[in-house]
Amino acid sequence: MSDSSRGEFSSSFGFIMAAAGSAIGLGNIWGFPTQTAQNGGAAFVLLYLILAFVVGYPILLAEFTIGRHAQSNPVGTYQKIKGGKRFVPVGFLGITTVGFILSFYSIIAGTMVAYFINPILKLMGLHQASAWVISQGASSNILFASIFFFFTILIVAAGVKNGIEKWSTRLMPTLLVILVVLVVYVLTLDGAMEGLKVYLLPDFTKVMHTQLFTSALGQAFFSLSLGVGSMLVLASYTSKKENIVRLGWLVTLSDVSIAFLAGLLIIPAMYAAAASGTQIFDETGSLISGPNLVFQVLPALFDTMGPIGIGLSIIFFFLMIIAALTSTISMLEVPVAYAVDNRGMSREKASIIIGVVFWAVSMIIALNFDLLFNFVVSATTQFIQPLLGLFICIFVGWVMNRNTLIEEIKQGNPEVANSLFMKIWPFFIRYISPILIFIILAQAFL
Ligand code: PFF
Repeated sequence: MSDSSRGEFSSSFGFIMAAAGSAIGLGNIWGFPTQTAQNGGAAFVLLYLILAFVVGYPILLAEFTIGRHAQSNPVGTYQKIKGGKRFVPVGFLGITTVGFILSFYSIIAGTMVAYFINPILKLMGLHQASAWVISQGASSNILFASIFFFFTILIVAAGVKNGIEKWSTRLMPTLLVILVVLVVYVLTLDGAMEGLKVYLLPDFTKVMHTQLFTSALGQAFFSLSLGVGSMLVLASYTSKKENIVRLGWLVTLSDVSIAFLAGLLIIPAMYAAAASGTQIFDETGSLISGPNLVFQVLPALFDTMGPIGIGLSIIFFFLMIIAALTSTISMLEVPVAYAVDNRGMSREKASIIIGVVFWAVSMIIALNFDLLFNFVVSATTQFIQPLLGLFICIFVGWVMNRNTLIEEIKQGNPEVANSLFMKIWPFFIRYISPILIFIILAQAFL
């Protein structure tokens, strides 16, 4: 039964763009290359790809299924589906976690805004201002993260059709085009081929360490927006006519493709920057990484390109802003959906109140950046997201009624019931995905 007051996507293109827009973001363009550099290159890439398909996709489909079935937020979903009552705290943990993700994410997204403005200020001759915007001090972080929050709140308050759908459908295709152009360009530069080798040829002897698994799993969860309820909520707005099995594949494929493309841009760009004199290795001989990687390497690269570099830099950081915004929208949407569905609040009021609460959390992180930033990132993405994913596997694989589950997946895709897929996916969601998550989380603690 569709509850029209909640809002609904007007087309399947709208849903796919919103879900792909949620998945594709700083996780792909900032997180993935940073993690790849930190974890030694191709081995990480391979592990991430495997985990995205073996653990990520099955959970994505599970979220799509229960979200569309219950037509509700994570808490409402567990309340509505038989056997779900005990999982309601899992729903609340998701809602809170996604708020913390939004809080740290907006700081990085704000830095993208700063780097977008920086060359424009330079062109205007405002050199002091241009240096200040990229200083990444507490005050500039606060200003730009706040700007980002403002736009996120504005779009979420506008609702599903006018906000999320309208923006995602316009912005996502632009992103792909700009990224491809930049990759093609970078690969023609001196030094880029060496970077390409590091990116594509795994050297497992160098990189087999436990952190590799935790990082790759966290990256898969973060990148596909899993566990915290973003995908569940987006699916709750989609119609029963949609084939969610197919849409899940499309989202997963587009997400890993964009991450892969971003790696193809950043890692060779690092080596191209090295070829023109920028330092890319730290004292230990590892590639430099950490939250500032893309902000160190790319501007250096753009600088070497003369006037074209200025244009490219503006385009690139605009692209980052687009990608980040379609993701932050899907984050704020989760607690807002809860307030609207379960607390009867108006969408506008919920967006503002909840937006301001997590804006305040973001400010606390910005003011204590060195102390809190990395901690919040790894706690939420490497531990809580996979843990929430584990609970989803348990609920969907072991608790939820099998017929209800199959009936829901069959909507919009009746043939699926007798397909090979319906033999494989339940096996993954019951055994393979949860066991892998459990092992990786356990080894991180031991
Ligand atoms: N998937 C987004 C990215 O890769 O940037 C980040 C994200 C969005 C994480 C939504 C969690 C979430 F609920």
